[in-house]
Amino acid sequence: MHFFRSVVGLVSILLSETLAAPSDLRSRDLNSFIAAERAIALQGALNNIGPNGSAVPGAGAGFVVASPSKVNPDYFFTWTRDSALTLKMLIDEFIFGNTALLPTIWGYVHAQAKLQTVSNPSGTFLPAGLGLAEPKYQVDGTRFNGAWGRPQRDGPALRAIALMTFSNWLIDNGQKSTAKTIIWPIISNDLSYVGQYWNQTGFDLWEETLGSSFFTVQNQHRSLVQGAQLAKDLGVTCTGCDQAPELLCFLQSFWNGEYIVSNININNGRTGLDGNSILGSISVFDIDAYCNSPTIQPCNSQALANFKVLMDTFRTTYTINNGIPEGQGIAVGRYGEDVYQGGNPWYLITNAAAEFLYDAVAQWKARHNLIVDETSLAFFKDLYPTVTVRQYNSGNANSPFAQIMNAVTAYADSFVAVAEKYIPADGHLAEQFNRDTGVLLSAVDLTWSYAAFVTMSQRRAGQYPASWGTRNATAPPATCAATSTQGINVVFNVNASTYFGENIYVIGNTDDLGAWDIANSLPLGAGGYTSERPLWSASAYLNAGESVSYKYVRQENCDQPYIYETLNRTLTVPACGSASITEEDAWVGPVGTSGNC
Ligand code: NOJ
Ligand code: NOJ
Repeated sequence: MHFFRSVVGLVSILLSETLAAPSDLRSRDLNSFIAAERAIALQGALNNIGPNGSAVPGAGAGFVVASPSKVNPDYFFTWTRDSALTLKMLIDEFIFGNTALLPTIWGYVHAQAKLQTVSNPSGTFLPAGLGLAEPKYQVDGTRFNGAWGRPQRDGPALRAIALMTFSNWLIDNGQKSTAKTIIWPIISNDLSYVGQYWNQTGFDLWEETLGSSFFTVQNQHRSLVQGAQLAKDLGVTCTGCDQAPELLCFLQSFWNGEYIVSNININNGRTGLDGNSILGSISVFDIDAYCNSPTIQPCNSQALANFKVLMDTFRTTYTINNGIPEGQGIAVGRYGEDVYQGGNPWYLITNAAAEFLYDAVAQWKARHNLIVDETSLAFFKDLYPTVTVRQYNSGNANSPFAQIMNAVTAYADSFVAVAEKYIPADGHLAEQFNRDTGVLLSAVDLTWSYAAFVTMSQRRAGQYPASWGTRNATAPPATCAATSTQGINVVFNVNASTYFGENIYVIGNTDDLGAWDIANSLPLGAGGYTSERPLWSASAYLNAGESVSYKYVRQENCDQPYIYETLNRTLTVPACGSASITEEDAWVGPVGTSGNC
């Protein structure tokens, strides 16, 4: 152990992999393993994406299949979470220079635009967005109708984050209007969902626990902060983004004084120690963040304390970890009590542990200092026994700062070395590896396992995504409140005699009603239209308490100009918690005439 740590410690993660000291056999092995496996992993993920993925014939364009495995377990579905995390990786790879990935990214954009509108057992898209939290779909984008742990509220946030990262690239590359007209509407749906439902319980990322999940709340918060900034850059408004400080407030309640309780508002007899917390912090990693940011970054003292307690649990959970001392990488799984497929370590979480540590080192180096406090002391003691509670500033290679950085980096490398040990010679990954023998098992070629290997490799190679704005995130209020940008259901009924082929829309000054842009106005339906009553109707969720100007519009059948009502109507949406309201209107203005085209 000492040999391993000291030699790997020579290699700064900021140096390129090929710069390892030539005499450094072990680290050279690790470096070349990572280089080879990273390429296999990237290709492994692409093989699982339709329509051309070689491992997933039948998958629709842009759909990411969780795994080609069709039995025990059947993972031949597309999960919103797995897909978004995979695309986040691919978008970062693209931004780091792999331009060949652009068509795959666009495929995802188009697939998700369609998927958002698919009615499913979690609900429908209109009027209240409930369908957005459906966890998984068939690989052609149709609904999955079986029993499942739903809703899962991390999906919309993760998808928005992936798409926002791509939007920022478009803006930086002269394609702002593409970002605004094609991608923002998809993002906006997801952010409205987050703003409205963040405060309701849902299933965790492991699809088992109905409560509040650390991973979910962290990503939801990030999505709203990033959304507010993107909306500003695009000159649009973000419905729901104003909730961000309340989510940040709520996020603080997962800490129990010793570790992060990954699932709260649930009593399932578990400790709450869960890889959920590691995955949460790496998914909100921001290279510019301060370590005391309440977003709970990898370099945050609570995150580090939690990391140690969690690793101490897994060290004694699996036979293959027997005898591995503290401060040395181990095989890591979901949570200690897990029994799914035998309850084994997972490739993606073992690599996530490494990624977490690379992230933390990158943040300390970028800040040029490390503050060890009472909370994080035990984490550092395992790695650098003479550490004390104090501030360490970066200095020369012999300063304790540099030595602690080397020790944490070596600790990170030792998790990758564990993964390496249990990855078969052909480099293929599955979901899990046996807790007693280390043999791979459960879903083969799991896309998320591949994505996690690539993101770990990116961080180790010093490739960091751009900041998502942690420094500008509004601080949490002193007292948390259970708010929500909850909409009130408003039904628009208008009597308007129309000829066959003519349609009616409602348009208004708020985003929900298209902000006076006819392309975004809300179509009414004529399902209740009779000869006695020419009723056109629609319902929309509008922001509680807001006052709205609106009018109805006729769309003619042969591209003749739209015909607008000659008056502006107003309504005031009732306060939060009120029942649905109905506007009963009658058309005021000129009628239309068929163009007989
Ligand atoms: C399938 C889920 O995908 C998995 O996360 C869960 O552990 C099992 N069902 C058992 O509930
Ligand atoms: C089960 C995992 O628990 C869940 O997180 C994942 O989304 C699905 N499998 C698909 O990979």
